[in-house]
Amino acid sequence: MKEDLTIVILAAGLGTRMKSQKAKVLHEAGGMTLIEHVVDSALALTAPERVVVVVGHQAEQVRATVAAKNVRFATQTEQKGTGHAVMVSKDAMPDTHGLLMVLYGDCPLLSDETLRQLVTVHVESRAAATVVTTMLNDPTGYGRVVMDADGNVAAIVEQKVATEEQRAMRQINSGIYCFDAALFWKHLPAVEPNPVSKEYYLTDIVEIFHREGLRFKALLHEDANELLGINTRVELAEVDRVFRHRKAKQLMLAGVTIEKPETVTIDSQVTAGQDTVIEAFAQLRGRTIVGSNCRIGAGAIVRDSHLGNRVEISPYTIIGASRIDAGATIGPFARLRMDNHIGENAHIGNFVELKKTHLGKGSKAGHLAYLGDTDIGAGANIGAGAITCNYDGVHKHKTHIGDAAFVGSNGTLVAPVRIGDGAYVAAGSVITHDVPGDALGVGRSRQVVKENWAKKKREAAAK
Ligand code: UD1
Ligand code: CA
Repeated sequence: MKEDLTIVILAAGLGTRMKSQKAKVLHEAGGMTLIEHVVDSALALTAPERVVVVVGHQAEQVRATVAAKNVRFATQTEQKGTGHAVMVSKDAMPDTHGLLMVLYGDCPLLSDETLRQLVTVHVESRAAATVVTTMLNDPTGYGRVVMDADGNVAAIVEQKVATEEQRAMRQINSGIYCFDAALFWKHLPAVEPNPVSKEYYLTDIVEIFHREGLRFKALLHEDANELLGINTRVELAEVDRVFRHRKAKQLMLAGVTIEKPETVTIDSQVTAGQDTVIEAFAQLRGRTIVGSNCRIGAGAIVRDSHLGNRVEISPYTIIGASRIDAGATIGPFARLRMDNHIGENAHIGNFVELKKTHLGKGSKAGHLAYLGDTDIGAGANIGAGAITCNYDGVHKHKTHIGDAAFVGSNGTLVAPVRIGDGAYVAAGSVITHDVPGDALGVGRSRQVVKENWAKKKREAAAK
């Protein structure tokens, strides 16, 4: 947007109020870590080499989480406050003039538009600095924005040190600022540790600017939701709810029907095609891609999977990292673990479990089967209760089932084994040897019928 815009993201804190072993910015909302959201927002405005993330707590994990985005890092070994955090980023800065934007890693809902608006307002007003603010009914915990008679910001007073009167003020600091970089770096060293907390508050720079006669503007943002910062898990849940609502709305406006949208969980990166219907309590997670005219049943959970058009997932089906081609129908109550590929118009019914299995075009496994490490051709039928024995206690083995093969109910296929094209496996068979194409494999003892056996037994008991 502006070539001379650098952005620093503060993400070094543990987040004590989260009561967690994990650094705050590694917690997830809307299906992504907080730090990923904020880095993505920054990258919508400027080049990766102009973004510096300040890391500290669990620095390695935080770096690894956003490593692919090619941003820069600075390390704050001791968390001495937001002012100090920006201070340590200076050496990693590509330059110290132009515009400097500061973002906090615990404020993930901000939109690209708001950040663009901040830059525009800042540049047009020719202020030395601009801060995004909003009005909150309950401003507890946030820094309060104190204005002077000219309508500029005179100070930001932190909750901890605010007077009774200041605490009643509802205009809060979102923690999103745009500075004239040269002025910022000139005056930042004047920030001193707070006498009470011993922390360097970045917000103290407001008073310093004011004292120097530099104009500090406030941009009042209407949508307070977007500026929610996360300090506790209650706020994490609140932010997650906003992300979910935003995502559902985006999909609905793009032509997806969502029943009871307040109940569904759809991660930020998920896409879904036109006229797809998502029923209540469904979850679409990770990098899932759903085609058009699909139906995702109530309570179904689909993760990192690719669904073609007209796919029907019936209620309470769980699918992980799988590909499902057009027109396939799955569930209810089916479980596709990882790396499955379901061919066009194939069908998986209730209580069927699949792992690393390919089911060819138009093939069916309607009821109660387990198919693991199995390659099944087109037009095959897998009977109720058929099981592949893919694990011998040490190794996993493969099962091949040919085109148009028929595996009878309760067939037990002991892998490695091959069932040829068009072959039959008799119901209840234990198959330990290959069945050639078009042959019948029977592996069970012959039935014996003993006439009048039951009657005689009853009569003997009655005596
Ligand atoms: C901060 C602001 C407050 C504002 C609120 C908005 C200050 C002093 N206060 O308060 O005015 O209303 O955000 O959400 O800036 N961090 C570091 N290193 C540190 C301390 C913090 O990197 O030494 C990072 C944290 O990881 C976090 C961010 O800075 O991502 C904000 O820190 P936090 O402690 O949450 O500040 P708040 O108390 O919320
Ligand atoms: Ca915070």
